[in-house]
Order: sequence, then structure tokens, then C-alpha cells
Amino acid sequence: MLNVALPKGRLGEKVYAMFEKAGFPCPAIKENSRKLIFENEEIGIRYFWVKPSDVAIYVEHGAADIGIAGKDILLEYTPDIYELLDLDIGKCRMCVCAKKGFRDNTQKTLKVATKFTNITKNYYAKMGRDIDIIHLNGSIELAPILNLSDVIVDIVETGTTLKENNLEPVETIVPISARLIANKSSFKFKGDKIEKIVSALKMQMEDKND
Ligand code: PRP
Repeated sequence: MLNVALPKGRLGEKVYAMFEKAGFPCPAIKENSRKLIFENEEIGIRYFWVKPSDVAIYVEHGAADIGIAGKDILLEYTPDIYELLDLDIGKCRMCVCAKKGFRDNTQKTLKVATKFTNITKNYYAKMGRDIDIIHLNGSIELAPILNLSDVIVDIVETGTTLKENNLEPVETIVPISARLIANKSSFKFKGDKIEKIVSALKMQMEDKND
């Protein structure tokens, strides 16, 4: 049995559709239910829905053999896993954002609010810029509006959240997309099956780009 951690939500549904098309279906997953685990014994695959930011934890610990995680999570938590494939979906970018017209006063320590503490620390350390990090868990865009911080480091997808809150991107730190990841020992012991999935997904992506 190959255990696959899918990120719960819209991205996960897209990913499942790719797996189905690649020859690894599990029709029960499409039924409207609150079940979290779905199995297709015939082809030896078991899917489960996981909170997107937890996928890498399941895979790193071997509770899942493979999974789909955002590059943001991989950069932030640097789990000990193999990154096998960029799925070219769930695309967005990690950005520094601020109130429109914001000018950085480099004489002062910059206050940065973010969920992504490590990405932020690494980014500013490379620039040699002193910062104070304010760790938040969501609605990060509020921070500069209420003067909790000077800037934020957050994910920008369509840019709508920024626009509707009079903020703007100042700098792109890194582009983000969904990645297929594998547990290191699963890759050793179930490598054939994992490789089959990787090549079927690759072929599908090539077809799409033709
Ligand atoms: C993410 C991100 C931004 C928003 C960007 O938030 O933190 O707030 O999406 O998308 P947009 O550019 O298309 O507007 P999410 O919905 O994950 O909620 P959060 O506030 O908990 O971070």
C-alpha cells in the first residue's frame, strides 16, 4: 500500500485529479463525506486529507510515503524529505508587502510581521538588515494597517487581499508552487511505485504544455 498525503482543499482536489488521470484513481474520495482516508486496494493506494501545512510532517515521519506540499512550507520548515517534482500548480509568490508608498528607513530596525519566520530571517540576514519579527498566524495584512509592523512577509496569489487593504508588494522573495515530496526510506523501499507515479505525472504535465 502506498500512502499519499493530499493537502485538504482546492489544491488537493486538483492534485487528486492529476493522480486519477495518471492511473491512480480512488473513486470514493469524490463522495461527499467527512471521511479523511480513502483506499483503492486493487491498485494499492491510500489517500488521506491533511491540513496543507502538515503534509511535510506526515511525510517526514513516514506516516505518508509521498505527499504534496507548498514550496513555502518546505522552505520554512526544511523537513528531511526528498523533493521529487514541481507540479506547476498552486502557484504564488512569497513577498515583502507594505502600505502604499512605504519607504524603508534603514537607520531603524524594521518591524516585520509574518507566519514565515525562517524565510523572513534568512532573507533579511542575507541583506544584512536588522529586523524585529512579529510572528502571526493569519490575516497578516492587518499588521501594517494597524502599525503593528512596518512590512509583512506573506504569500501573494492574485494580489486581491493586498489591493483591498491598500497594501502593495515591495519585493518578491521567492516564487512558490506545489511540490511532490517523498519520505526518504519509502523512496528506498517503495521506489518503483513512487517512480511510476512521478513519470505518469510528468507525462501528464508535458501533454498539458504541448
Ligand atoms: C493567503 C495569504 C494572503 C492571501 C493571498 O491567506 O496569507 O492573505 O492568501 O491571496 P491573494 O493574493 O489571492 O489575495 P490565506 O487565505 O491562506 O489565509 P491566512 O490569512 O490565514 O494566511
